[in-house]
Amino acid sequence: MFVAIEGIDGSGKSTLATLLKNTLDHRHIPSFLTREPTGNFVMDELLTGKRDPESALKLFFRFTEDRFRHQEELKSHLDANEVVICDRYLMSSLTYQGPLLAPLFDGTHDALDWMLSVSKIIGIRPDVTIYLDIDPQSAMKRLSNRAARTGFEETEYLERVRDIYRNLDMDGKVTFDATRTIQTVLKDVIDYLEPKLRK
Ligand code: ADP
Ligand code: TYD
Repeated sequence: MFVAIEGIDGSGKSTLATLLKNTLDHRHIPSFLTREPTGNFVMDELLTGKRDPESALKLFFRFTEDRFRHQEELKSHLDANEVVICDRYLMSSLTYQGPLLAPLFDGTHDALDWMLSVSKIIGIRPDVTIYLDIDPQSAMKRLSNRAARTGFEETEYLERVRDIYRNLDMDGKVTFDATRTIQTVLKDVIDYLEPKLRK
């Protein structure tokens, strides 16, 4: 089973991914924890924090290429019947680059259609996408004590990112209210996954 964890920065993805992995370890359910961008992704300093369409286009292709390569690793763990937990996946490209590519198209909807077409090269799709929903202000408060930040995190932009996360229909997407305590979120996620794990 392939589980992707999605949400804006500070929604609690990495925390949840680690706790989920620990829970599976505890139950002796084989699993593999990974993330995107992967360790192979080289962030071009010139693109850091850029919000113009051309930079978004470059980033979209780079994230897609990174994902394309990542599939090989994902496949080997899925073939071994492990539960694969991925911190960010395809939805991150759609939500983060989508609003910035919109001006090159007839709006966000068209941009998303185009991104989905390009992403047909990504054959490995999550069975479940756990979307952690939180307002950007609360999420940013959680991050305010983090040292180094990428340039992606202004509230206004994250509102647009969140809007796509909330409204985009993806197969297997389930929304969880991420403003609650992490233990509550974890319990809900495990309750949701439990019957699927037994299959
Ligand atoms: P993300 O991976 O989505 O950017 P993190 O898991 O790194 O988010 O969490 C960001 C910060 O918020 C961390 O300091 C983490 O301890 C804290 N955090 C995560 N989940 C919660 C929660 N449910 N309630 C309060 N703080 C949280
Ligand atoms: P990272 O430092 O890993 O942030 P976090 O720990 O908060 O997830 O940086 C990932 C950033 O890259 C994050 O702001 C989202 C962005 N991103 C995209 O814009 N598109 C993508 O396809 C992916 C995978 C990530």
